[in-house]
Amino acid sequence: MSTAVWTNRLDMTSFADTALKAATRLWFAVVVIGQLLFAFTVASFYGLTAARGNFQGLNKFMSHGYIPGDGMGNFAVAIHLSSAVIIILAGMLQLVPQIRNRFPVFHRWNGRLYIVTAFTISLAGLYMMWVRGSVGDLPQHLGASLMAVLIMLCASMALRYALARDFKTHRRWALRLYLVVSASLFIRAGIFLSTFLNHGPFGFDPATFTGPFLTFITFAQYLLPLAVLELYFRAQDRPGAPRRIAMAAGLFVLTVALGAGILVVSMAVWVPSVKAAYDNRKSIVETLSATLESAGVDQAEKQYHQLKATAPATYNFDEDQLNILGYTLIRANRFKEAIRILQLNVEAYPQSSNVYDSLGEAYMNDGNKPLAIANYQKSLQLNPKNRGAVVALQKLSVP
Ligand code: HEM
Repeated sequence: MSTAVWTNRLDMTSFADTALKAATRLWFAVVVIGQLLFAFTVASFYGLTAARGNFQGLNKFMSHGYIPGDGMGNFAVAIHLSSAVIIILAGMLQLVPQIRNRFPVFHRWNGRLYIVTAFTISLAGLYMMWVRGSVGDLPQHLGASLMAVLIMLCASMALRYALARDFKTHRRWALRLYLVVSASLFIRAGIFLSTFLNHGPFGFDPATFTGPFLTFITFAQYLLPLAVLELYFRAQDRPGAPRRIAMAAGLFVLTVALGAGILVVSMAVWVPSVKAAYDNRKSIVETLSATLESAGVDQAEKQYHQLKATAPATYNFDEDQLNILGYTLIRANRFKEAIRILQLNVEAYPQSSNVYDSLGEAYMNDGNKPLAIANYQKSLQLNPKNRGAVVALQKLSVP
C-alpha cells in the first residue's frame, strides 16, 4: 500500500476518534447540565415546600404526593425524592475521570452511596406505584418497574465487578446504571419536547396521563439509551473509522434533541418551580384547605375573598394555587367542592385558558356535561392550541 493511502487512513481514523470523543463529551455536558437543573429543582421545590409545612403544595406535580394520614406512603415519597437528588449528583461525580483518578477513596465511598440510593429510589418507587397507586396505566407501571429492576441489577453488577477488580466490566455496568438512572431526565425532556413541537399533548390524554406515546416512552427512556450504549461499546472495541463517525453523528443528533427537551422542560416547569420555591409568601392552599376541612367550602370561599382584600401581599394568590387545591379535591372525588374552588380561580383569572380547562375537568368528573363543554370551549377560545381541551371535547362527543 502506498504512503499516501496509509496517511489518508490514519487521518480518517484520527478524525473518527476525535469526532467520537467530542460527541461523547458534548453528550455528557448536556446530560450534566440537565441533571443539575433537575436536581436543583427537586431539592428547592420539594425541600422548601415541605420545610414551610405546605404539604399540599407537594401535589403540584404528583397525583399521589402527600396524602394526609398515609404515614408510610408519605415516607416513601420523601425517600424517593431525597434519593432522586442524591442519585443524580452521586452518579455524575462517579463519571468525571479527573475526580475518579485524583480521589479514589472518594470514588469508592460515593460509589457505595450511589448503589444504596439505587435501591432506595427503586424500592420506594415500586411501593408508590404498586401499593399506593399513581397515575398511568398497567403498561406504564410495568415499564417503570422494569426500570427499577434494571437500576438495582446494574448497581449490583457494577459493585460485583469493582470488588472482583475487573474494572473494564465494572465501567460498563456503571455506564449502564448511569443511563438507566438518567432515563428520568430523558423521559421528561422527551414528553415536553414532543408536547412543545405538537403544540399540545402528543399521543396521550393529559387528563388520564395514558396513551400510546407514553407507553412507548416509558420503555424507550432506558431501552433506547442502553441500545445506543452497546453500539458505542462496539464502536470503541472494533476498528473502523466509518463505524465511529456514524456513532458520533448519531450521538450528536440525540444530544441536540435532548438539549432542546431540557430547554423546554426548564422553561415550562423547572424555572417556574424554582421561582415558586423561593417565594416567601404564605401559600393560600394550606390556609384554605384547613378551613375547608374544619368549616366547609362556604367558609373557605369567604376566607379567600377576605384575605385577598386585607392581605394581598402576605399570601400567594397565583393562578396555580387554587388549581393545586382544585386538583387535590378532584383526586379525592370531592367534585362539588373542587368546582367551587376552581370557580374562584376563573373569577380571579378570567383571561387564562388553563383555569377554564381545570374547571371543565371538575365538571366532567361531576357528570355535568353541558358545563364541562362550555368551560372547555372557553378554554379553547382563549388558547386555540390547547390540545388537551380538544381531546376532552372529543371525549364529551363534541365534534
Ligand atoms: C432513578 C431515577 C428516578 C428519579 C430521579 C425519579 C424522580 C422522581 C421525581 C422528581 C418525582 C416527583 C415528580 C416530579 O417532580 O416530576 C417522582 C415521582 C414518582 N416516581 Fe420517580 N424517579 C426515578 C425513578 C423511578 C422509578 C424506577 C419508579 C418506579 C418504580 C418511580 C416511580 C415514581 C412514582 C410512582 C412517582 C409519583 C408519580 C405520581 O404520583 O404522580 N420513579 N420521581
